[in-house]
Amino acid sequence: MRAGTSNRTMKAGLAYCSLLVLLLITDVCGQRRPKPKPVRPPTTRKPPAPKKPSSPAPKSEPEPQEPTDFPPPILGPPSEFPDCPRECFCPPSYPNALYCENRNIRKVPVIPFRTHYLYLQNNYIDQVTADSFKNCTELKWINLGNNRIRSVEKQVFEKLPKLLYLYMQRNELKEVPDDLPAGLEQLRLSRNQISKVPPGAFSKMEHLALLDLHHNRISDSSLGKNIFKDLKNLIQLNLAHNILRKMPANIPKGLLQLFLDRNNIEEIPQGYFKDFTNLAFVRLNYNQLNDKGLPKLVFNVSSLLDLHLSHNMLSTIPLFNPELEQLHLNNNSIESVNGTEICPSNSLNMHDENGAPKLRYLRLDGNHLSPPVPSDVIMCFRHLHAIVI
Ligand SMILES: *[C@@H]1O[C@H](CO)[C@@H](O)[C@H](O)[C@H]1NC(C)=O
Ligand SMILES: *[C@@H]1O[C@H](CO)[C@@H](O)[C@H](O)[C@H]1NC(C)=O
Ligand SMILES: *[C@@H]1O[C@H](CO)[C@@H](O)[C@H](O)[C@H]1NC(C)=O
Ligand SMILES: *[C@@H]1O[C@H](CO)[C@@H](O)[C@H](O)[C@H]1NC(C)=O
Repeated sequence: MRAGTSNRTMKAGLAYCSLLVLLLITDVCGQRRPKPKPVRPPTTRKPPAPKKPSSPAPKSEPEPQEPTDFPPPILGPPSEFPDCPRECFCPPSYPNALYCENRNIRKVPVIPFRTHYLYLQNNYIDQVTADSFKNCTELKWINLGNNRIRSVEKQVFEKLPKLLYLYMQRNELKEVPDDLPAGLEQLRLSRNQISKVPPGAFSKMEHLALLDLHHNRISDSSLGKNIFKDLKNLIQLNLAHNILRKMPANIPKGLLQLFLDRNNIEEIPQGYFKDFTNLAFVRLNYNQLNDKGLPKLVFNVSSLLDLHLSHNMLSTIPLFNPELEQLHLNNNSIESVNGTEICPSNSLNMHDENGAPKLRYLRLDGNHLSPPVPSDVIMCFRHLHAIVI
């Protein structure tokens, strides 16, 4: 079905394209295709969405500066559960969830044994201590996002063998907590001040699918050579907005998404993506890549669909695989485009539309280029729906 319709679109599109000067035109030919959204790692074992507490305290006042300025904790009405902490809401119909978010809490209350899903985000908690978590060995999810956590007592989380999701983004951690349980599937530590990743921090974490460390202070020396090696099931690795100068070493070959925007990366080692079997999304916007730092065929990775190289210092278009659908190269120093040279020469039958390279979206604005788009580009990339130049 797709081949037929797109063949027609193609012909119409080609005619249209050749008439127009493609200056800052998006979506000229054909309808817009939604940008591929980052695929979320499978969220198995999702609990039914319980009713939220009816009146979470809005955090509307300006953020207090000193601990003494903290507004008092907000206590709820007495619960039918005798073990329900007063600063939390224990939904009667959903005894496995404990809602303590937006309550001005400074210390984690004692968590009842029955709790599987624990919500503590948007409070003023500054440390995580063992006493609160002594008896809640059934915990599966913990959300501690947007607090002021500076320290995590040793082995608090290790003693939660069923923990799957740990969210601690937007805190004040300086290092990745040690002793995380081996069964963890998602770990969010973005927007902290992490500069230290203890050796073995992720060892044995074979089930981890998502590791989000973006917006921290991670440098090359923060990352031991084999720090990510055991993460055999990792799907998304986000190290964007750190201070890396090099590509992280020995990342898992099964990765689907690698985000490294806003670092200071200057080069990609030869064969860096060799043997990656699922890699589809690579983002390297806002780095220091130049032509010398990119080995000729480094992006010839057959699974790659979406490649972001905006805001670097490239002066030529790197070669890429025939399956690539989106290529972002805006705000580089590219001076010319030779469609013959960049055309991924996969197929013997280029006139067959199915054999044509899959590129649909190409951004080249913010370079030293001016329209028109060379005809050899249009000839090669027959699936192209939008080009920005
Ligand atoms: C832990 O929870 C169980 C089950 O509710 C209870 O029987 C036990 O007394 C609790 N232990 C502590 C130390 O609170
Ligand atoms: C790109 O990789 C494919 C296999 O993944 C290979 O067949 C092809 O020759 C490579 N392209 C170039 C230009 O080497
Ligand atoms: C593009 O590259 C091909 C092969 O390298 C070359 O033959 C051709 O002259 C180039 N086209 C332009 C317009 O420079
Ligand atoms: C990127 O390119 C666009 C389009 O030319 C330009 O308007 C913008 O100022 C550039 N951004 C930067 C940060 O250079």
